[in-house]
Amino acid sequence: MNTAETADRQDVLLQVRDLRTQFRTPLGMLRAVDGVSFDLAAGETFGIVGESGSGKSVLVRTIMNLLPSNAHVPSSGKVLYRGQNVHTLSPLDAKHFWGPEMAMVFQDPMTALNPVKKVGEHLTESMRYHLKVSRKVAASRALSLMREVGIPEPERRLEQYPHELSGGMRQRVVIAMALACEPKLLIADEPTTALDVTVQRQILDLLVRLQADRDMAMILISHDLGVVSGVSDRVAVMYGGHFLEVADTRELFTHVHHPYTEALLRSMPRLELPTGVRLSAIAGRPPDMTAPPPGCRFAARCEYAQHDCEAAIPSLRPGPEPTHLFRCLFPLRIADDGSAVTTDPASDTQQVTA
Ligand SMILES: Nc1ncnc2c1ncn2[C@@H]1O[C@H](COP(=O)(O)OP(=O)(O)O)[C@@H](O)[C@H]1O
Ligand SMILES: [Mg+2]
Repeated sequence: MNTAETADRQDVLLQVRDLRTQFRTPLGMLRAVDGVSFDLAAGETFGIVGESGSGKSVLVRTIMNLLPSNAHVPSSGKVLYRGQNVHTLSPLDAKHFWGPEMAMVFQDPMTALNPVKKVGEHLTESMRYHLKVSRKVAASRALSLMREVGIPEPERRLEQYPHELSGGMRQRVVIAMALACEPKLLIADEPTTALDVTVQRQILDLLVRLQADRDMAMILISHDLGVVSGVSDRVAVMYGGHFLEVADTRELFTHVHHPYTEALLRSMPRLELPTGVRLSAIAGRPPDMTAPPPGCRFAARCEYAQHDCEAAIPSLRPGPEPTHLFRCLFPLRIADDGSAVTTDPASDTQQVTA
């Protein structure tokens, strides 16, 4: 089986193997995550990009063991953290794991905050619960965390309630909460999507700085290829519950192999475009995951699709660059002799339709 493994990378932190998540729905079993595998090295930033509904949030919620009761995760799927299965931790081990090893930042800061608790309590409670530090130590750490995430007047803010803060400040508090136990891996699921454009950039810059300072690994999720590409060492493109392409960020943009990734690049908004120019959005809709097609999940929307594409799901295989994986029978930019054809990503991605 080909996976997005990084066996040659030192210090593998997380190994995800053939993860599947299904939901019981009135229309039948919905295969939200359908065979995802990847490795993450310590300190690495792994970006996951895909359209809404492709399974990104369910994937990370499955990793974090945060699924609703109508979810089913076949036990053949595995999430190993430093070799240990994180879904079979004892309650005591779990207490020292979620928070101190792995923590998460969600899209909407309000869902992570309790409206009747002060900002300071949010920070100190998590430290006291997971790290068993004294009230005094927790309070002083809370103050330095507030400074670290760039909240002005931190003493005053600690005494405020979530509704007294702006959206951007709330997300900074949520990030501070996630960092309170010094996790080795931070999962950020669309951390900037609910924020104004100017604040989005600040929060992304903050995450990048904190990650570098702490040598923390990060899984960053976005529906925006621009957001993940600016930040990630490696990018996975998700569609219909699994990865269609995974590669180091530079390699992905210089040698796009999957037609879906190419289509995503073409649909990216660009500031320099004159107003009135319409972007080439991808025509059609993602597959119904209660009854996914037997072949490539993108075939119905793919302008290069051929008959064979509809027969069976292509495996995730490497191209000329062994760590560049893609799930396509007729990949772009691979010459007939199997070598990579270099393209200028700038000229390639500037195509627009009027
Ligand atoms: N609790 C649930 N019950 C049923 N279906 C769900 C549930 N949560 C998510 N889904 C479905 O799983 C699929 C993937 O959703 P999600 O991971 O949230 O997508 P996104 O990539 O936008 O984060 C979607 O089809 C969504 O409707
Ligand atoms: Mg989501």
